[in-house]
Amino acid sequence: MTLGLLIRKVRKEDREAVYALIASAFERKDEAELVERLWEEHAIKFERMAEISGVPVGYCAFTTVTCKPDLSGLLLGLGPLAVAPDHQKQGVGAALVEEGLKLCRENNARLVAVLGDPHYYERFGFEPAAKRKFTWAGFDAGDAFRIIAPEDDDFDGVDPEEIRTLRYHPAFDMVS
Ligand SMILES: CC(C)(COP(=O)(O)OP(=O)(O)OC[C@H]1O[C@@H](n2cnc3c(N)ncnc32)[C@H](O)[C@@H]1OP(=O)(O)O)[C@@H](O)C(=O)NCCC(=O)NCCS
Repeated sequence: MTLGLLIRKVRKEDREAVYALIASAFERKDEAELVERLWEEHAIKFERMAEISGVPVGYCAFTTVTCKPDLSGLLLGLGPLAVAPDHQKQGVGAALVEEGLKLCRENNARLVAVLGDPHYYERFGFEPAAKRKFTWAGFDAGDAFRIIAPEDDDFDGVDPEEIRTLRYHPAFDMVS
């Protein structure tokens, strides 16, 4: 892990810097505006920022996702995840994901979904959602849509072949 890296809660007064950080990581404002809307709608279950010597260098959010057919319990989606360009490839993203997944476990999340680079996310234990009979409500993301869930959870499956659809908060629809 990067020397001096601190993963901590996001305070209201951090929001401006976090917005700028997300926009610089994605090289556009869409994801920063998404997070702003999630803040406005109190839609974030957990969020953490990474800082080095007081400078914000990373951010990740976890929001609740819905499932059809219904599934009980806490269902979460990871994203957005952003690391400032100058601090990428130094383990900041991994530290944020690992801390976030720890929070998910502590809060007994039943599953955590993610949409992103399969090569990046598989190292944390995310497996293709299709393997567990889940799909994303958006386009067919193939291997890029992944989940983490305990292996022995059969998801109340009356019909083990039934495909379940996971949907992120509607604010995510503004990002393509
Ligand atoms: C994707 C993103 C969040 C990853 O964050 P990051 O902090 O760069 O990620 P990590 O450092 O944990 O890992 C990235 C790579 O650096 C490597 N790495 C980690 N620590 C390292 C170190 N100390 N020295 C060299 N390489 C290192 C990792 O092994 C990994 O390599 P690989 O992906 O080629 O296997 C970041 O690149 C980003 O913000 N991108 C723009 C926004 C984006 O696309 N977000 C994701 C949307 S799903």
